[in-house]
Amino acid sequence: MCGIFGYLNFLVERDRRFVLDTLIKGLSRLEYRGYDSAGLAVDGDTEDQTFIFKQVGKVAALKKLVDTQEIDFEKSYISHCGMAHTRWATHGQPSQLNSHPHRSDNHNEFTLVHNGIITNYKEIKTLLEKKGFSFETETDTECVAKLTKYLYDSQKNSDITFTDLVKMVVKELEGSFAFIFKSTHFPNEIVATRRGSPLLIGVKTAKKLKVDFVDVEFGNAPDAINIPDKDPTGFMDPTEGGRPQMNRSLSRAFMSEDGMPQPIEFFLASDASAIVEHTKRVLYLEDDDIAHIADGELHIHRLRRDDGNSPATRSIQTLEIELAEIMKGSFDHFMQKEIYEQPESVVNTMRGRVNFETHKVTLGGLRGYLSIIRRARRIVFIACGTSFHSCLATRAIFEELTEIPSQVDLASDFLDRRTPIFRDDVCVFVSQSGETADTIMAMRYCLERGAVCVGITNTVGSSISRETHCGVHINAGPEIGVASTKAYTSQYIALVMMAIQLSEDRLSTTKRREEIIDGLYRLPGHVKEVLAQDANLQKLAEETLSKEKSLLLMGRGYQNATCLEGALKIKEISYMHSEGILAGELKHGPLALIDENMPVILIMTKDSLYPKVQSALQQVTARKGQPIIICNTGDDNLIRDYKTIQVPQTADCLQGLINIIPLQLLSYYLAVLGNIDVDFPRNLAKSVTVE
Ligand code: G6P
Repeated sequence: MCGIFGYLNFLVERDRRFVLDTLIKGLSRLEYRGYDSAGLAVDGDTEDQTFIFKQVGKVAALKKLVDTQEIDFEKSYISHCGMAHTRWATHGQPSQLNSHPHRSDNHNEFTLVHNGIITNYKEIKTLLEKKGFSFETETDTECVAKLTKYLYDSQKNSDITFTDLVKMVVKELEGSFAFIFKSTHFPNEIVATRRGSPLLIGVKTAKKLKVDFVDVEFGNAPDAINIPDKDPTGFMDPTEGGRPQMNRSLSRAFMSEDGMPQPIEFFLASDASAIVEHTKRVLYLEDDDIAHIADGELHIHRLRRDDGNSPATRSIQTLEIELAEIMKGSFDHFMQKEIYEQPESVVNTMRGRVNFETHKVTLGGLRGYLSIIRRARRIVFIACGTSFHSCLATRAIFEELTEIPSQVDLASDFLDRRTPIFRDDVCVFVSQSGETADTIMAMRYCLERGAVCVGITNTVGSSISRETHCGVHINAGPEIGVASTKAYTSQYIALVMMAIQLSEDRLSTTKRREEIIDGLYRLPGHVKEVLAQDANLQKLAEETLSKEKSLLLMGRGYQNATCLEGALKIKEISYMHSEGILAGELKHGPLALIDENMPVILIMTKDSLYPKVQSALQQVTARKGQPIIICNTGDDNLIRDYKTIQVPQTADCLQGLINIIPLQLLSYYLAVLGNIDVDFPRNLAKSVTVE
């Protein structure tokens, strides 16, 4: 979904070409999030000028537009602030006008980029229209740029700072957002803020920073800039209110060790993948932080005076990802690379956590909460998309090992139902990105109700990993392809490990735990065995499935989740209609679809439900269906009579980890055969940061 990138240099001479290239490269690293148009803003030739370039389509199209501008690319800057954006349309179609950056007026006095949704934009727009503003786009964002100008003009004689101005603006906004603001009135300054949408700041210096944190500057008045409560029109009266009263502290971090200002570059981005090639030193903004960067210093202010509970510093952390992890290497697509990374990514999820000799699991991130979780009245798993399927896939083993009633909910539905949640519930939020809006809202809903909240995410520093009480990082490495693959298998393993650890005090389940841990030990080898069938799966996609319009996937028990996840993979990247069907439900409806022409994949790996799936097979073949069967190697009856995909057998609750691999590969090849941009399927985004 929308991606934000900003680049600031201070005492580091850069020409315009360098700045533009850096911004465009930053955007290209965010492309995987999904977008339909892109744009950027840089300084013009004079201080009161800002150049804005926007284009529909790929970042490459924006680059082309920029390259053909008649501007001085050699113009150099000692200090400069530029910002850029990839847009995923929510309000108004993808168009050049609707693309970001948005501006306050024809002179581009205030420009900004935004990720998220402003829910009260209509009210703001109506009011601004009454004040004489006219709007050029259909977006919710434009009203924020115009509101900034309106408030600035009203405060003109008070020497308002950029930070305080943005505070006034943000106080009027409802919804979710990450913003970067730039202004010709505040040259070489940037203000960035977030609420609900991610934003981090990378710092690059030649010399070591003096300290590795930034002080948070709290206002010393009840309200940092003493603005009165909203007036009935929705806006504060700009003529009232006192002068800003800030506790200005030295920004200790940004001096070099000798205490002098130093050459420095800042990179702002929606996620770390756009920053890591420049610097690994990053700071994650918290909700309602207002970051002000000027004169080589970063100051963090708070929107409102805090309740005393929020930390007084933001630490500058070191990113643990490598550039190579976000590059395709020798693979054609990120999705293919990520499918092939699974023999290693599953090991990374277990590394240091599973002792295969003593059959013990230790999840450091749950320490301190285990006994509370064990006493839970109920475990509620909440997630979206693929992450939801990883919860479904492991629910049964949770219930079996912990004997705690467990339910699995889609985050949006969970919120729609206003599901009753109590203090003795444990709520588990599973999210690759840790930034999915629906999941975050569900998490906050559960936190408010006093439930223990556990996060299972792939993104260190994400909202879910920061705001939950405890959790597990799945350590799958960055996942760029929109279709989630290695994150699914790693989430699945993280959840299985959690169930094992929760049940370690139950002697009756010792054998079962050992069987599962032995299965986890063999897993990387099993995954490799399936990957070795790549060529056969490509052939199957090409010869049997690629011309079809629809594909049904059937299974039951543990394999229901595999069918749902396999069908999701197929529809999202090959655009073929595909449905996962619980085989036990076949006779209650889906059987009506079966005839000799309807393509079916039936999952029939060996577990206690095998006889029941056999009956589903009979129901299908009796209607002349010709299913392709995913079965275990050595299941000779099936192999003799049907077209099969053979996979190694493992513990029933882990079999889904192996069975999903051929479906990932099939969906990949169906997309490639359909000439589809595998990593960027239409209409979808990797990180869905709006409701
Ligand atoms: C989007 C992605 C899916 C992902 C889902 C949940 O729809 O395209 O691949 O499964 O969001 O994302 P999360 O980051 O919360 O796991």
